[in-house]
Amino acid sequence: MLRRLHSEQPDSFAFTPANQAWAEAQITKYPEGRQASAVIPLLWRAQEQEGWVTKPAIEHIADMLGMAYIRVLEVCSFYFMFQMQPTGSVANIQICGTTSCMICGAEDLVAVCKEKIAEKPHTLSADGKFTWEEVECLGACTNAPMAQIGKDYYEDLTVESFTKLLDDLAAGKVVAPGPQNGRYAAEPKSGLTSLTEFDSGKTQYNASVQLAMDIKDGVKRIQGDEVPLLTPWVGKDGVVAGRAAADAPPKAPEAPKPAVKQAAEAKAEAKKEDAPAAEEQEPEVLKEARGGLPDDLKLLKGVGPKLEEKLNSLGFFHFDQIAEWTEAEVAWVDARLKFKGRIERDGWIEQAKRLQVGDETEFAKRAKDEGLYEEED
Ligand code: FES
Repeated sequence: MLRRLHSEQPDSFAFTPANQAWAEAQITKYPEGRQASAVIPLLWRAQEQEGWVTKPAIEHIADMLGMAYIRVLEVCSFYFMFQMQPTGSVANIQICGTTSCMICGAEDLVAVCKEKIAEKPHTLSADGKFTWEEVECLGACTNAPMAQIGKDYYEDLTVESFTKLLDDLAAGKVVAPGPQNGRYAAEPKSGLTSLTEFDSGKTQYNASVQLAMDIKDGVKRIQGDEVPLLTPWVGKDGVVAGRAAADAPPKAPEAPKPAVKQAAEAKAEAKKEDAPAAEEQEPEVLKEARGGLPDDLKLLKGVGPKLEEKLNSLGFFHFDQIAEWTEAEVAWVDARLKFKGRIERDGWIEQAKRLQVGDETEFAKRAKDEGLYEEED
């Protein structure tokens, strides 16, 4: 299956305020300069909210993490868990089609999907409520055949029980996940043969099903306010545990973000009081490129089109300018970039020194050959 952006996309994407706060809290788990590590959880939450990952969502997340759009798209298109086309407004049905399930009737379940949803997978049903797909083993082989719907597993399915399940979901009923044939969990169908003392005092459903039933959380889209935002690694003072306040990562300023906002404020405060800014000195800048011929600053690892634009706007057009930055001048430039520390981390000055004399770095060679550009700021 080709994994590419769907031909029809919404105009925009925004996390709900609670999901935005959650997403920003996830970013604080990672050290300065490594915010990109949060890309998968953020993509996943976008999918939980919208049902699929849209192009505007990819761009929104890339902007939050300081990543090039293509990098986030690469992650999204690599992992099949991300849906890249619209899914049913109620649910996307994932039928396990691997050995145990196939032997026990997965093909019959697929036939139900074809009849009740759409002939082809990843296609919206006529009422827009469902899509379906076949997936690899979901690790519940003892309860084959089974399907994942939303976050939950529906196991020990038959054509009849699966058909009723789809009808109930379409009618907006809360359905009980777990085994659909009366089994409690994954015990023998004839009943427990050992550990029988645990048979008494159990809840109506097994633990995970009971939880789903208690919170009536079946196929609901995640708005983020279903459970409190838990960020135990961010202390009451807003500082990420084990990290100096001045190292706390930067935060997007516009969205509501209780925990993260605290961290950002603590960081600013700590910078003011405890960590005086490194001495800065403005480097010599140019109004325009000499002879109207700027160097391609994107040949520096770590500089993408946006960052090149930023450097140009600050008055830097040539490798020799960058090659000559002093420590204080690096501090001046760094203070004007969205994400700090990348000049040193990516070794811009060493790269620029080589590039200004016509020497080619490995990255520059690849960038030229493949049109490859590094992260943007
Ligand atoms: S084969 Fe279906 S869950 Fe493993």
